[in-house]
Amino acid sequence: MKRTIFNSLLTVLIVLASTPAYAGGEPGGGNAPAIPPSSTNAPASSSATVSADEAVNILIVYFSMTGNTEKMATGVQEGVERVAGATVTLKKVDEVTNDDLAAADGIVLGSPTYWGTIATPMKNFLDITGFWGGKVGGAFSTGALETGGKESVVVSLLLALMMKGVIVVGPVYDFGNFQAGSLGASAMTGPPDEGVSDSELEEARKLGERVATITQQLKRGSP
Ligand SMILES: Cc1cc2nc3c(=O)[nH]c(=O)nc-3n(C[C@H](O)[C@H](O)[C@H](O)COP(=O)(O)O)c2cc1C
Repeated sequence: MKRTIFNSLLTVLIVLASTPAYAGGEPGGGNAPAIPPSSTNAPASSSATVSADEAVNILIVYFSMTGNTEKMATGVQEGVERVAGATVTLKKVDEVTNDDLAAADGIVLGSPTYWGTIATPMKNFLDITGFWGGKVGGAFSTGALETGGKESVVVSLLLALMMKGVIVVGPVYDFGNFQAGSLGASAMTGPPDEGVSDSELEEARKLGERVATITQQLKRGSP
């Protein structure tokens, strides 16, 4: 009996070790399986005058059924575009390719809150992709309710990013007389505060800006 269990465990370990998704990976993150190879990857901004180590590509991956999380994703995009030399690729979760992942220096993930946690398409994306070590990451979410789990989703996304070897950052707020950091960006989208407000969008922009800035600093090797 014990021997049968031992043999089964051994088989599982051998299968895991030979599956690319679990085999670790290089900083380029090229070991992501099961998603289609290359398609369009058009950067939204670029600058010919920046040095090579300023040129970073930030990939924003989001799932959105009714447009709220998509709006936050465009806020993150605008924030990345504030940073000279940073280019941005915005992709729905089912459109991301292995080439997108390999080309990204930073990855920002966004998901609506579904029953207090990450929506299944985003969770599935996390489960089928591999190690992203060396990249910088951040997270954002939306949820209808004031205390419906938006921040839990951000934390869950950050945990997954950390498990994939990503260095995670959140936005930083400067109130003049004091500064504060935050976990990520989120928006309450149900009544009485429907949709994504300007201040919530600005939070998303700050997230994109910080991810791009820290990614550049890491690439440069100095602040
Ligand atoms: C299946 C399902 C479960 C949901 N669960 C929650 C929840 O637990 N907490 C919450 O605040 N909102 C919840 N919502 C509302 C969505 O999170 C909210 O409408 C979100 O902004 C939708 O994002 P989207 O417009 O990008 O699709 C749920 C919506 C659906 C469809």
